[in-house]
Amino acid sequence: MKILITGGAGFLGSHLIEDLLSQDYEVTCLDNFSTGKLRNIESFKKKINLVEGDIRDSKIVMNALEGVDFTFHLAAQISVSRSMRDPIFDASVNIIGFLNLLESMLKCGIKKLVYVSTGGAIYGEPKEIPVQETAFENPISAYGLSKLVGERYLKLFHETYGISYSIIRPANIYGPRQDPMGEAGVISIFLGNFLNKKPVVIFGDGYDTRDYIYVKDITNMCIKAMHANQNATFNAGTGIQTNLIELVNTIEKVTEMKTIRNFESPRPGDVKHISLDSSKAKNKLNWEPKVTLEKGIKITWDWFRDFMN
Ligand SMILES: NC(=O)c1ccc[n+]([C@@H]2O[C@H](COP(=O)([O-])OP(=O)(O)OC[C@H]3O[C@@H](n4cnc5c(N)ncnc54)[C@H](O)[C@@H]3O)[C@@H](O)[C@H]2O)c1
Repeated sequence: MKILITGGAGFLGSHLIEDLLSQDYEVTCLDNFSTGKLRNIESFKKKINLVEGDIRDSKIVMNALEGVDFTFHLAAQISVSRSMRDPIFDASVNIIGFLNLLESMLKCGIKKLVYVSTGGAIYGEPKEIPVQETAFENPISAYGLSKLVGERYLKLFHETYGISYSIIRPANIYGPRQDPMGEAGVISIFLGNFLNKKPVVIFGDGYDTRDYIYVKDITNMCIKAMHANQNATFNAGTGIQTNLIELVNTIEKVTEMKTIRNFESPRPGDVKHISLDSSKAKNKLNWEPKVTLEKGIKITWDWFRDFMN
């Protein structure tokens, strides 16, 4: 089976490619390297078909889809704060880019897809935590909204043209290869600060909570969802809320270092509290997160010291 991964040179995409190659799938990676890095895919580049280009370019997308049986759509503008500064750019990549992929898939007769949406930004400030998939989606950022619109288009294409899908709504993903210089991914940003002995910046009072999930737990769910193909939506989180103070304390424990904490105003678009109830994925996909926060941070820190120094 040949699989297309859009955004395959990114953080999550490169781990997914690695796992699919280890299970002997043929892989095409489509990426414009806007945030993706060649070094993320360097060690297995020779084993994949790499198409460099933009998901908004039909010709490029059709070229990448050649011979493909299944698609994982990961390419996206992923920064909440950038989406608030430039919602038109966010929508052009996350909505128009995705629509272009869906249209191109139809033209090529490819009707199976996993769409990586967001669980951290799609619900807004949920009434109950951990939040279930049935909760009202009420994004408070342009990023959360564009991801939700993508989900709705996918369901429309399912009803109208029979595209079969899984939607995955991950919590805050972290792990090796996440860009510490990016605007998303607080654990890698903080680990980068620790490595360079710089203070960490905490937006808000430090008591905002997030649900942190290790990257290989998400790739594992992606592959399970590909096999299950149930036209369903799955949260992918631990259900545990961790606030930023607790997060920095855990990083200090793992790294055996102390840091200075600088507090700044909260950023527009950031939710205050979130964690995800993933019991649906447990029941339907036999999926559970395996890596604890402390263990995941340790693996990520070891990687940072080896590769980012
Ligand atoms: N990192 C997280 O915490 C998190 C949480 C929930 C959902 N997600 C979703 O997971 C997916 C992967 O995110 P990530 O963390 O690996 O981010 P990333 O920025 O590392 O990966 C995104 C990839 O898409 C590529 N890309 C962006 N725009 C493109 C375009 N127009 N054409 C072609 N390629 C393009 C980038 O170059 C990059 O390689 C995204 O869809 C994101 O919304 C991420």
